[in-house]
Amino acid sequence: MTDKTATLSVGGKDYEMPVLPGSVGPEVVDIRKFYGQSGMFTYDPGFTSTASAQSAITFIDGEEGILLHRGYPIDQLAEKSTFMEVAYLLLHGDLPKKDELDEFVHMITYHTMVHEQLAHFFRGFRRDAHPMSIMTGVVGALSAFYHDSTDITDPQQRLIASHRLIAKMPTIAAMAYKYSVGQPFVYPRNDLSYVGNFLRMTFSVPAEEYEVNPILERAMDRIFILHADHEQNASTSTVRLAGSSGANPFACIASGIACLWGPAHGGANEAALNMLREIGDAGNVKKYVDRAKDKNDPFRLMGFGHRVYKNYDPRAKVMQQTAQEVLDELNISDPVLDVARELEQIALNDDYFIEKKLYPNVDFYSGVILNAIGFPTEMFTALFALARTTGWVAQWNEMISDPEQKIGRPRQLYVGATERDYVPVDER
Ligand code: SDX
Repeated sequence: MTDKTATLSVGGKDYEMPVLPGSVGPEVVDIRKFYGQSGMFTYDPGFTSTASAQSAITFIDGEEGILLHRGYPIDQLAEKSTFMEVAYLLLHGDLPKKDELDEFVHMITYHTMVHEQLAHFFRGFRRDAHPMSIMTGVVGALSAFYHDSTDITDPQQRLIASHRLIAKMPTIAAMAYKYSVGQPFVYPRNDLSYVGNFLRMTFSVPAEEYEVNPILERAMDRIFILHADHEQNASTSTVRLAGSSGANPFACIASGIACLWGPAHGGANEAALNMLREIGDAGNVKKYVDRAKDKNDPFRLMGFGHRVYKNYDPRAKVMQQTAQEVLDELNISDPVLDVARELEQIALNDDYFIEKKLYPNVDFYSGVILNAIGFPTEMFTALFALARTTGWVAQWNEMISDPEQKIGRPRQLYVGATERDYVPVDER
């Protein structure tokens, strides 16, 4: 702590507030007492300048394009770690020793099955239901099946619920896919890796044996690492806000899934591939870039821009490399990747994008890889939710165990009608 303060002068009256330092990154002005002292609120509708929590999980430097998970750079984790190890790191704060990792993987593996009744839950959906609508509904329903891990005041129950959520997300996502294509659900297998299990539950059919392709397994594992956590983004903030009321962890994660679905957030990966397909050919790129720059045209380049990154999203760099590797190793040449590359080149050399600091984000290239692996575009955001569950669970645990945690209850700038008397309908 330091004795540094900030002073806000309003109408000739000074309000002094403490300045709190972090271990790295911007300091914060602690305004918790400001309303009590001044009778005024601060105003920041998109939280562009507001820290909603203190956290030790993920650090982002948007200007420099830096992303650290518990201090470890994302490019090192993507290259050297595994998704299970990153999940442990996010949840527990340090890289696990071998025996700790083995125990964690065993714990997750043995929670991958879902209650058999849950399968009936899917049958209530139309076959063409969007996988994210199914994920939102089914994950929210988990609290009806796992009562023994909904007491948030019990650290042991919090841990079991965390393991269950991380473990069952691939099973539920695979079931959502199978339901949409009219194929039977596939049970998890304990002899497969987290990602291998997911690929088999998604793509295997009873009619033949399924061999997990190690290239796809490694690519998916890396994609999950890149989507694991990202500080206080919209869906993570939703999970924290839901959790601040004491709601059970399954309901909180379901609220995060609902928020992630939006095209401005996790839904952008599906929208980005659809956009690239609509552009169709590198020759059409300039027309779409011009549309994105036109204030009167609501069209935006999906997969471009970011609230925090005003430099290249470090995840997008790794994603682009992975896209090329996967296509090469699968011997696929996807014209969409050429369109993406041309779009990136034109946009990054255009004054509009340079001045607004708009760069490709994590969603720009991910669809090319997921499409090459065989996922339909409707599944892309469900895969994002699958991976982000580890981050949501870590952030939820951090929030619940924070002694300063209170129910989140923002205020407002009221601009509606002032008090007036009721008028009976025949006098209006
Ligand atoms: C994710 O927060 C996270 O960390 C999210 C995420 C995570 O891991 O959790 O990183 C994942 O959600 C990535 C973002 C995915 N969304 C998209 O790709 C959708 C397209 N991008 C945008 O809609 C936009 O860039 C946002 C929503 C991502 C960020 O919006 P901001 O920070 O609120 O910025 P803004 O909308 O105010 O835009 C600033 C300016 C505007 O122009 P002016 O009004 O100042 O003239 O830039 C323009 C915008 O019009 N702009 C774009 C643009 N994004 C912003 N113009 C064209 N194309 C775009 N993609």
